[in-house]
Amino acid sequence: MEGHYEESAPADLYLLGWVNDETQEVTGLKLPGGLSFMIDQDFEAEVTGLNAFPKDERPGQVNAVFQFYHIMISIGMLLIGLTLYASFLWWRGTLFKKKWLLKIFAFSVLLPQIANQVGWFTAEMGRQPWIVYGHLRTDEGFSQEVSSNQVLFSLILFLVVYAILFILFLYSVNKKIKHGPYDEAKNPDEFLNYI
Ligand code: HEM
Repeated sequence: MEGHYEESAPADLYLLGWVNDETQEVTGLKLPGGLSFMIDQDFEAEVTGLNAFPKDERPGQVNAVFQFYHIMISIGMLLIGLTLYASFLWWRGTLFKKKWLLKIFAFSVLLPQIANQVGWFTAEMGRQPWIVYGHLRTDEGFSQEVSSNQVLFSLILFLVVYAILFILFLYSVNKKIKHGPYDEAKNPDEFLNYI
């Protein structure tokens, strides 16, 4: 159940796991050689590992990148699974009788928002210590003209704008859900009011 950072070796695929950044060990549920297979269709194929890179060219928080990436994929798979299951029920004509599933759907509008954030964390943290991979390091990329207070101020402004957009998003989704499905053919006027 354990793996190490290697220079080059067959690589496992972890469904769930925990990376110990200190000991460079991964513990979890894995498919041995799974990553090698995904890359080369060969469970024994060598994959370049983190230790092939100098220490100051590796991301510092490997476990965080690992967890964020796994959360993103789990959400993606869950949404695909839910959609397939619901399509099957719709085809059988029983979808709208399954209230518990419809409730899950109502709350699952939040999942792509979370997946977007953790996907972005994966990309940004996994690329460290580079801003532009192989060309510009993060510690060389900051502007010396902009003070930390100015950065904080624009961050707060972004936070306010996005908080307002998020509240508007919840408001309009809630409105649509409460309104329920409409019948465009039967009632075109209601449809026009609705959009
Ligand atoms: C179905 C399983 C999924 C797979 C296999 C997958 C795969 C990936 C990969 C390989 C990356 C690039 C990471 C890197 O930079 O090295 C990525 C980034 C990202 N993913 Fe996913 N993803 C999945 C689901 C999702 C879902 C459901 C969302 C959102 C609805 C999402 C949003 C993002 C975002 C926003 C990024 C960052 C893009 C960037 O800033 O460059 N992903 N994903």
